[in-house]
Amino acid sequence: MTGQILSETLRNKNILITGGTGSFGHQIVRELFKYQPASIHVFSRDEKKQYDMALLYPNQANLTFNIGDIRDLERVQEAMRGIDVVFNAAALKQVPNCEYAPFEAVLTNIIGAQNVRRAAIDAGVQTVVSISTDKAVKPVNVMGMTKAVQERIMLDPSYRGTRTKFVCVRYGNVLGSRGSVVPLFCDLVQRGLPLPITNPAMTRFQLMLAESVQLVLWATVKGECGDLWVRKMPAANIVDLAKALSYGITGREDYPIATVGARPGEKIHEILVSEEEMWRAREMGDYFLIPGWAVPEDKHGPQHGDIQEYSSDRTRQMSVEEILKMLQTDGWVSANGVGPGPKALGTGMSRS
Ligand SMILES: NC(=O)c1ccc[n+]([C@@H]2O[C@H](COP(=O)([O-])OP(=O)(O)OC[C@H]3O[C@@H](n4cnc5c(N)ncnc54)[C@H](OP(=O)(O)O)[C@@H]3O)[C@@H](O)[C@H]2O)c1
Repeated sequence: MTGQILSETLRNKNILITGGTGSFGHQIVRELFKYQPASIHVFSRDEKKQYDMALLYPNQANLTFNIGDIRDLERVQEAMRGIDVVFNAAALKQVPNCEYAPFEAVLTNIIGAQNVRRAAIDAGVQTVVSISTDKAVKPVNVMGMTKAVQERIMLDPSYRGTRTKFVCVRYGNVLGSRGSVVPLFCDLVQRGLPLPITNPAMTRFQLMLAESVQLVLWATVKGECGDLWVRKMPAANIVDLAKALSYGITGREDYPIATVGARPGEKIHEILVSEEEMWRAREMGDYFLIPGWAVPEDKHGPQHGDIQEYSSDRTRQMSVEEILKMLQTDGWVSANGVGPGPKALGTGMSRS
């Protein structure tokens, strides 16, 4: 998508990012400045994360930070006043944490999403793009279940308003995002410890943060109310990811790996578009568009030939070399020979 179209959509707009201090938030804020919005408002709970993020932008007068919790409707309503575009990225996204405290996931991922939706309608926001995950498809864990309901809330087909457009995007593992396996592996490799593999057969869709932002911006421009957009992406086997990362940092091809068994709520493969959704999905180049449930199913059948689910074992599998290249491009592995990249240096575990 050209910068010109994005500029036309975002220039002079007031933008709110719930969860704006997270991995996605950092990346999209950097990107949004290119399109000269009137203002960008980061909305999240932890003041330290906001303080640290503000230090990165000392001269950016149109970037503001709002402390608030999406569980608190009144606070979300206040933050939403005068806003044109909302990116809803606030979530509880760690599978084990949500298993341990399921209702906390309900409060943030479901009630919080409903608050964002209600406040956006009340404030006459133009566009809300909400971020979902492959774990929401045929979910087996609380995180995925709550994100599945979040999608349904955002794309509620009973909505007849004309002002606010609600769109969702769904994607797989963002390489190196906070709490993901790449910072963990970087940390362990730098401490010389074996890499824990839950199940050697496991595959995961992979994309880089920059690609996740591009998908969200695509949906902002192209999406119609009720749309759910999925970008096609390759997958990596977890052992290949461990091999690529340990080789990239240490130069060793025999770095120790320990199989520790799947955690509760983990699938062997993830699904980005279910077989049931494929009956309604449209394949559009690099994307699948799953139209809203209010759009009647095409009586001539699926829009394209393949109605099998789009899962991480049925997409293109990345080789160890490709994964290594991706890790180098994203700064986890040195691009100039063996060694840690800038993102892996220091406290890899605490990076966003
Ligand atoms: N990372 C991935 O691999 C991945 C893959 C697919 C989809 N996604 C989705 O992408 C979105 C962004 O993920 P991310 O990787 O950027 O997550 P992240 O780094 O963990 O950031 C989450 C953000 O949400 C904020 N937050 C959490 N609970 C909140 C609440 N109740 N009220 C307000 N803010 C809250 C956090 O800040 P505070 O804690 O300070 O509030 C933080 O800014 C999420 O919806 C996630 O489900 C992520």
